[in-house]
Amino acid sequence: MNRTILLPAFLLLFFAAGAVAAETQKPLPLGELPDFTISRGAPLYQRYCLFCHGASGAGDGPAGLSLATPPAHLGLIINKRSRKQLGAVILTGGRPNGLNPSMPGFDKTLSARQVEELLDFLRELGGRQDNPG
Ligand code: HEC
Repeated sequence: MNRTILLPAFLLLFFAAGAVAAETQKPLPLGELPDFTISRGAPLYQRYCLFCHGASGAGDGPAGLSLATPPAHLGLIINKRSRKQLGAVILTGGRPNGLNPSMPGFDKTLSARQVEELLDFLRELGGRQDNPG
């Protein structure tokens, strides 16, 4: 009688522990992240980046339009820079990377994993723009 309750409880614990371990893992190398990171990156983009970089990443968000240096067209640059370069800009901002300082750094806001998720989403955005419709 007891065993039928204990087994599912044990399995649940086992999977919950696995999920926590996965969450605290180091970011995986390019191409090895599971697809769900794209859908995780989308809400992060909408929350932190859209108002400057625009809904499609073209640099035409409401705040971006008022900046002297327009925010990068992310769909166009995503395939021209290394993942490391892009990650550095997102974490530390424009200034330390030789870009305009109006690109803020997000190292206080985003985890390394969230940056990976954002990069996956941006790559998806870039793909969509190369291949419209
Ligand atoms: C306050 C406005 C603003 C916000 C918010 C913002 N950016 Fe930017 N971003 C800029 C500007 C302006 C530039 C262009 C800097 C330049 O070209 O010198 C830029 C440049 C970049 C670049 C570098 C492009 C290159 O040429 O290498 C990346 C990558 C980037 N942003 C990603 C993001 C991501 C991801 C977010 C959200 C987490 C974000 N930005 C939020 C304004 C913003």
